Formats: sequence, C-alpha cells, structure tokens
Amino acid sequence: MRYLQRPDWHLPEAAATPEGLFLGRRQIVAGMAAAGLLPGMTAAAPAALASRRTVSLNEEPTSLEAVTGYNNFYEFGLDKGDPAENSGTLRPSPWTLKVGGMVNKPLTLDVDSWISKLSLEERVYRMRCVEGWSMVIPWVGFPLAALVKAAEPLSGAKYVRFTTLNDPKQMPGLKFPALDWPYREGLRMDEAMNPLAILAVGLYGRRLPNQNGAPIRLVVPWKYGFKSIKSIVAVDFVERQPLTSWNQSQPSEYGFYSNVNPDVDHPRWSQATERRIGEFRKRATLPFNGYGEQVAAMYRGMDLKKFF
Ligand code: MTE
Repeated sequence: MRYLQRPDWHLPEAAATPEGLFLGRRQIVAGMAAAGLLPGMTAAAPAALASRRTVSLNEEPTSLEAVTGYNNFYEFGLDKGDPAENSGTLRPSPWTLKVGGMVNKPLTLDVDSWISKLSLEERVYRMRCVEGWSMVIPWVGFPLAALVKAAEPLSGAKYVRFTTLNDPKQMPGLKFPALDWPYREGLRMDEAMNPLAILAVGLYGRRLPNQNGAPIRLVVPWKYGFKSIKSIVAVDFVERQPLTSWNQSQPSEYGFYSNVNPDVDHPRWSQATERRIGEFRKRATLPFNGYGEQVAAMYRGMDLKKFF
C-alpha cells in the first residue's frame, strides 16, 4: 500500500492559520508599515499579497522586527543592521527577471505583472545561517520548479545559476570588494525541482522588504542561508556546476552544496548547534535543517563530508 507523504510544512486546512487571523496579521503588518515602524517599509509599500493556501510549520515564527532588521545582504553593508538601514536605494519596481541559457523558451519577465498572475502560497520555513543562528519565516512565494518548467530546459542543462542585481547606484556595498560581484548562486537541477525550493516574493503576507531581497529571492530551507540569493535578475540553465560567490571567495569554508549538516563543521566553528533568534538556549542542528525526509534521497551515495 502507498501512503501519500505530506511534507512537514503541510497542514490540513483545519489546522492551518484561520483566514481571519491570517488577514488580521497582514493588517497589523500593514498598519505598522504605514506608521513607519518597519525598517525598509514605507507607507507607499505595495498592498498585501493574496496567497491562496496557508501552509505552516508547527513552530513559532521569528518576530517581524528580527526578520526585517537582522539581515545578511552585503550589497548594503556587512553588519546585520546595515541592510535595513541602507537598502532604501534599491528600486524593486519595475524589475526584469531574465531566464535563459540552455532552454527552449528564454523568458523576460516583468516581475510585477508576473506576480499578479501567480497563485501564491504561504510557507513557513526554518532558515539556518552558516554563522550559527536560525529563524522561522512565513514566506510568500511559488515553487521554483514552476519557473524551471516554463523555461523548458534542454536535456544537457544540469545546473541552474542565479545572479543578483549589479548596480552600484542602487547598491552602495558594490563599491567594496567584499565578494566578487554580482552575488551568484547555483543549484543542481534536481534540487531546483524539489518542491521545498521556492522563489519568494513576500513575507508575513506582504511584498518582500528591500533588505530581504526584493522583489524576488530564492529560499532553499535545507541549505545554509547564503544559498538563498536575493534580488535576482537572472536565472540561467547551464551544463556545468556554476561558480558561486562564497565558494569562489573561500572554497575551504563554503562548498557548492551547503546542505545544513551538524556533522560537518565550518573550519572555524562547529555547526552542531544553533541559536534561534529570540531565544537564548541553543538547539541541536538537524541534518538538512530538519527537511531530510523531503531531500535526503537526492544525495544518496554522495560523500557529504567531501561534497559539503
Ligand atoms: N543575497 C545577496 N545578493 N547578497 C547577500 O549578501 N546573503 C545571504 C543570503 N542571500 C546575501 C544574499 C546570506 S549569508 C543569508 S544568511 C541570507 O541571504 C539572509 O537572508 P535574510 O536577510 O532574508 O534572512
């Protein structure tokens, strides 16, 4: 007999956040933005995003203040508070996303009009940063697989490469050589097709704040946070494993795969525990950030100490 396996972010309708509460939270968030209480959100921020389904994780989401005020986005500075402070110069609308490389159907998408046609979902994911902290974030987005299918990759395309905007006028940090700009990331094709990988266009029921990677960013919850590339302008299908920013910068510390793995330490610190932002106690880090049931099969037979 076969059982339908539900991923752990899926809850039956009855157990999901009741729509009233969900709308209530959105309205609270909208009110805070209008009052200028949220960094990077102004009264002119776009209206709340309508997401069709509410899928959830049975864990308390990290506060909106932390999600939007404690960020890594080196294009706006190296300190956690810098992106919220400095990302006002980013203009996320209009925004063009180009999908190309080894595909049958290259796409040039106007992100605003495209988002308005999409059926969006809320998904609450654990995110684990390589520096040892984690958050639980209610993302709004759609499966990356939908974009892959729309572009119809050729059979020789084995990897997907993502590229962030590279405009020093909008991103003051590009003047400093913290990384070899633009920020680039990559996934193997099966990883890109995994239903857990999403392109996020919002969080907490609203469009993405600039500091979180407006208007469109990747979310790969079983990998360390640096795989979740922000403010994407290009998605290309390629034959060979692409060079990624952190792997290029420090290959002994950051591998291409970057799967959350408590058994493989960063050369300068342990990866066995993490601190959830908002908590003081340490938690044990779970293999694949707790999503092993959904993703471990993709790596069967691979030496994950070598391919870290
Ligand atoms: N994307 C770009 N373009 N530039 C960056 O510096 N930082 C990465 C990732 N995506 C980064 C990026 C890192 S190290 C992390 S932990 C996550 O974004 C943080 O996402 P958050 O600020 O939305 O939590």
